[in-house]
Amino acid sequence: MEKYTAAITVDQLRKSYKKVDVLKGVSFSVEKGSIFALLGSNGAGKTTTINILTTLLNADSGTAIVDGSDVAKDATNVRKHISLTGQFAAVDDILTGRENLEMIGDLRHVANPAETAAKLLDQFDLQDAADRRVATYSGGMRRRLDIAMSLIGSPSIIFFDEPTTGLDPQSRNSMWETIKSLADNGTTIFLTTQYLEEADQLADKIAILNKGKIVAEGTPAALKKLLPHGQVELKFQNEKQLAAAIKLLTSYQTTQDEESLSLAVTTDGTVAQLTQLLTKLESAHIEVTEFTQKAPTLDDVFLKIVNDNKEKKS
Ligand SMILES: Nc1ncnc2c1ncn2[C@@H]1O[C@H](COP(=O)(O)OP(=O)(O)O)[C@@H](O)[C@H]1O
Ligand SMILES: [Mg+2]
Repeated sequence: MEKYTAAITVDQLRKSYKKVDVLKGVSFSVEKGSIFALLGSNGAGKTTTINILTTLLNADSGTAIVDGSDVAKDATNVRKHISLTGQFAAVDDILTGRENLEMIGDLRHVANPAETAAKLLDQFDLQDAADRRVATYSGGMRRRLDIAMSLIGSPSIIFFDEPTTGLDPQSRNSMWETIKSLADNGTTIFLTTQYLEEADQLADKIAILNKGKIVAEGTPAALKKLLPHGQVELKFQNEKQLAAAIKLLTSYQTTQDEESLSLAVTTDGTVAQLTQLLTKLESAHIEVTEFTQKAPTLDDVFLKIVNDNKEKKS
C-alpha cells in the first residue's frame, strides 16, 4: 500500500571522519508527503546525514532507503527521485536566472526546458530579473532561484540543508510558504535547521540530532510534552495589582511584563500547584483578569534534552 510506505528509512547510520565520530547510529523514518526536520546545532552532523541520503557520501555502516532504493546499492535510482538544495546556493553566477534553469532542465531531460524555466521564474517571482546575471541577485533571489532549480523534473523528495540560514525575516517567511506548498502538493520534504522555531512552524515530525545520536523524535506537540514543567501567564487589571502579585509570589520563579500587565509564573504543572497559586491570589484580593497556560517552547525542550544528556554522561 503506497500510502503507508515511508519516503525515507534510516537505520543505525554511522559515519566518522578520521578521528571524529559524527554519526553514531542514527535511525529515523520519514512519511511520504510529510515535512521532516532534522534539528541540531552547528556541527551536529546534519549535512553529513543529508549527504549520505542524497548519495554524495558513503556511510561507514547502517542502511538508508530513499524512495524505495538503498542509497549504497542503488544510488542512480535514488538520484532520479530526489533533489538537494544545499546550504550554499548552487547557482551559477555568470549565467542569468533563466539560463540556470534551462541548463538544469536540459540536464534532467525535461520535455521543454524553456517552458519549464518560464513557469518557475513566474512561480518564484523572478520574471523581472530573469535575464540578468545571477551575480546581481540578492541573497533572497539566489535562494529562490536555487529552489526553483531543485524543482525541475518534479522530484518526489526534496532535501533542504538549512534553507533559511542567512535569510532576512521576509525571505525566510516566503521560504516557509514555499516549503509548505511543496508538501501540500505531495512532495516529501527533508530539511535541516538550527532553528527550533523553524522546525516547530514547518515540520510534521522533528528529530533532534545531538552528539551523533537522535536524542528525541516526534511531532512538535509531542516534543513539547516531554517537558513536565509549565509556565502560566497571569494578567492583571492595573500596575498596582501586578505589583501586589509579584510581592505575594516571591516563592515562585516569575517574570513580569509591565506593559501587558502580565506575570509569567513557573510551576511544576500540577493542578495542585495551580490551584494553590490562584487561591493565594484570591485570598489577597488580587484579581486575575486572564489566565493562560503556556506550553514549553522547543527551545526549552532542546535545552532540557541536551542538559539531561550531559548529566547522564558526567
Ligand atoms: N570532510 C570532513 N572531514 C572531516 N571532518 C568533517 C568533514 N565534514 C564534516 N566534518 C565534521 O563533522 C562534524 C559534522 O559536520 P556537519 O555534518 O557539516 O554538521 P552540521 O551540518 O550539523 O553543521 C563537524 O564536526 C565537522 O567539522
Ligand atoms: Mg550543515
